[in-house]
Amino acid sequence: MEPKFRPLRVAVMASGNGSNAENIARHASACGERLCVPVIICDRPDAFVIERAKKLGIPCEVIPRDGTKEAHEAKIAETLARHDIHVIFLAGYMRILSPAFIRAWPRRIINIHPSLLPAFPGRDGYGDAFRAGVPVSGVTLHYVDEGVDTGPVIAQKTFERRPDDTLETFRARGMELEYQLYREFIDTLVRSAAA
Ligand code: GRF
Repeated sequence: MEPKFRPLRVAVMASGNGSNAENIARHASACGERLCVPVIICDRPDAFVIERAKKLGIPCEVIPRDGTKEAHEAKIAETLARHDIHVIFLAGYMRILSPAFIRAWPRRIINIHPSLLPAFPGRDGYGDAFRAGVPVSGVTLHYVDEGVDTGPVIAQKTFERRPDDTLETFRARGMELEYQLYREFIDTLVRSAAA
């Protein structure tokens, strides 16, 4: 029998380790059929996320950064269309998307950032916050707009810096909160799809 609803189809884009991508994919499949991750897109052929995707049984489309950014994004756009994607979750995707690409996906690109935005935007949120000695830091889930880490905030979680923290322990505590934020967001999407 045909399902009575169309599942929300989410593409995850990642460039590196892929722990967020794995968390998203596992939570999505635990949430039933209203939301699925039909593809992970990766721009680095040596990224560990490719191994994770294999283990998860999710197709991973590796689209290396050859040629111009425009040509690279055209390949990404073609991949998203081929997989009939509705929403993009950035999860450690390390290339800034062009304004043209972002405009094609209004409020449909979400990013996880490892700081309490607007504090510490950029590539190394944990490192920058840790070195600045902030007593409290956090993580931010936000829509992607044309600026760098400036889009509307969906949710944030905070954590305290402990006196004996190293950058590694500090980051590890933040990562757990990143996973929680994406899981909670998926829950919200699933609930609203069911309403
Ligand atoms: C995360 O800290 C994410 O917030 C940042 O890059 C890191 C990616 O980690 N943008 P992983 O690849 O998901 O393990």
